[in-house]
Amino acid sequence: MKGASAVIVAAGKGERLGSAKQYLPLGGIPILQWSVRTFAGHPGVGEIVVVLPAEQVAEPPDWLTASSVRCCPGGKTRRESAGAGVLAADPGAEFILIHDAARPFVSSAVIDRVLAGASRSGAALPVLPVVDTIKRTEGGLVVDTVARSGLGRAQTPQAFEARLIRGLHARASETGSIASDDAALCEEAGQAVTVVEGDPWNLKITTRADLDLANWLVESGRLRAPLSGNVAGGPV
Ligand code: CTP
Ligand code: MG
Repeated sequence: MKGASAVIVAAGKGERLGSAKQYLPLGGIPILQWSVRTFAGHPGVGEIVVVLPAEQVAEPPDWLTASSVRCCPGGKTRRESAGAGVLAADPGAEFILIHDAARPFVSSAVIDRVLAGASRSGAALPVLPVVDTIKRTEGGLVVDTVARSGLGRAQTPQAFEARLIRGLHARASETGSIASDDAALCEEAGQAVTVVEGDPWNLKITTRADLDLANWLVESGRLRAPLSGNVAGGPV
């Protein structure tokens, strides 16, 4: 297979929101379907692997099977789920994009930017500047103000040369790394990660307030669900 495999991790429990969020409706379709459609419509993406809770893999929802997506079971941590997706991806893929289903508003432009970054250095992620003053706190009291310069907020999708990220996840499963994103595996290994411009609309749904904001952005017409795309090359 030419091009990139997209791995969408959707095996979390949504504890901070109070329920698993991947199937919650947003603008008439499930949250997970937003990013599936965006990756399916991107010309550089040759296949999509969706990582689901193990008990849901045998019977994925119709719209997932209909859009030529392959499903595989996730693990207890995000790292394990991403590792499972990377293992399930086509061995012939040149690049692997790893994306959180919790970010439904991923755009084609961000996918372009991380793929361009990964082809320069082997790995890339979108970053937004930190705009708030950051405090370190302990027991309800401020301990310190953290210098803001040089801090950034990491987003997904993150893009990697396939060989590189396969090796890093294989090692992480041996060491039991609990890295909270995939770029962190590169950092631990001393592998350069290129920073590309993040997208302020590519928000992550973590809490009820995030979900309310996402719903409001859609209901107000500011953001629209992507049309269903076809994965280049047909069903996998
Ligand atoms: N994820 C996963 N497997 C896990 C944990 C997380 O595939 N064992 C996925 C989630 O489905 C989500 C992404 O990783 O798309 C980012 O994780 P997060 O926002 O933390 O989602 P949850 O783990 O579901 O939420 P919470 O931490 O509140 O339980
Ligand atoms: Mg989590």
